[in-house]
Amino acid sequence: MDIDKIRRSAGIIGESDEVQEMLALIGQVANTDISVLITGESGSGKDLVAKAIHKNSRRKFENLVIVNCAAIPAGIIESELFGHKKGSFTGATESRTGYFEAAHKGSIFLDEIGELPLETQAKLLRVIEQGEFMRVGDTKIQKTDVRVIAATNRDLAEEVKKSNFRQDLYFRLKTINIEVAPLRDHISDLHLFIERFGLEFTAKNDIPFKGFSAEAQAVLKHYDWPGNVRELKNLVESILVMNKGERITEDMVKKQLKLDTYNTNPNLPVFVNDNPDKVERELILKQLLFLRQDVNEIKQMITGGRMGTVEEVHPANPALYLPPPASDQNQVSPVMTNIEDGTAHAIQEDAIGETTMAELEHEMIERALEKFRGNRRKTARALDISERTLYRKINDYGIQKKFKD
Ligand SMILES: Nc1ncnc2c1ncn2[C@@H]1O[C@H](COP(=O)(O)OP(=O)(O)O)[C@@H](O)[C@H]1O
Ligand SMILES: [Mg+2]
Repeated sequence: MDIDKIRRSAGIIGESDEVQEMLALIGQVANTDISVLITGESGSGKDLVAKAIHKNSRRKFENLVIVNCAAIPAGIIESELFGHKKGSFTGATESRTGYFEAAHKGSIFLDEIGELPLETQAKLLRVIEQGEFMRVGDTKIQKTDVRVIAATNRDLAEEVKKSNFRQDLYFRLKTINIEVAPLRDHISDLHLFIERFGLEFTAKNDIPFKGFSAEAQAVLKHYDWPGNVRELKNLVESILVMNKGERITEDMVKKQLKLDTYNTNPNLPVFVNDNPDKVERELILKQLLFLRQDVNEIKQMITGGRMGTVEEVHPANPALYLPPPASDQNQVSPVMTNIEDGTAHAIQEDAIGETTMAELEHEMIERALEKFRGNRRKTARALDISERTLYRKINDYGIQKKFKD
């Protein structure tokens, strides 16, 4: 199986042995129907692994139903998973299908499986082993064909000892166990994460990206990363907001690391090296930028211009996510594709640090025009902008002459 294809399917970054081995293992198991248990610390990338497994399986054109077991109250989780029959409990005024039915022929990702109540665990084992379940309040056996992918940041062996987790289910799940390494164990990948997260964030928020200095990166390499890649991503974004458009220095990184650790520890005073007004202004600015990012994402969902990572929230239940329809899955705009492939000239190593968003945009438009031999309608569509906008930008950047059709 093609490792690069797996990498791209879920946008997994990393060249270290840890990541390469993980990708190889995903490749070995993806195309089978065996249940998989993904373990690893919070923020280490378990969700991405689950998506990579589904997208590289023969079920890739069917649903991947994502269920966060920790987000659903114990009292209703069975009815959520397996559905219920009308009148089976107070409030059950209609029959309802569960996630296992929604996932029929596809995959179900049970995140935080360690939080599943014991009784529900027994029913889950039955679905895994026999493909059978019953709706709550029903006596009719239902059949389903679902591939189960589970994840946890708990030590399940320990939970079995404490009688919080069924041993039979644990044995069933752990036959294929993908362990996702904590960031501190593949810290050699750090620069790749910084580059990707930095580029993505600045592109979305229209700020130039001038990179992180070697000293700044060295500081980050010595940090312990208890929150793993998720924490790194947040940190990179915060630093870029606080130091808009600047090259990131060692001092900026140290300051933000301190701020973040203070923020997560309520017993420590707020970082007061700066004058409080400035800190406040920066925090407000940061919130505004995040807000803008959210609005952009929502816009993309509404207009259907999905960017690969945006997921549809199931209207009836926010704990359930459905991936975009199969036909859309690889429809990522060329800008994103190039960033992910790392092939675009504009983001080659030596260019980072000097390039502004306007230059990047200019270049993307030229390249797209070239690709479509000056056809503006096709170019606009490929770049996911309107023809009007394209005309305006062609004029702004003065690129029209080269592409007279
Ligand atoms: N190897 C990786 N490559 C790219 N992004 C990653 C990687 N690992 C984690 N991330 C990013 O870090 C964040 C947390 O990852 P996630 O899969 O949700 O972690 P977990 O499920 O283990 O808590 C997400 O934004 C994810 O995209
Ligand atoms: Mg997760």
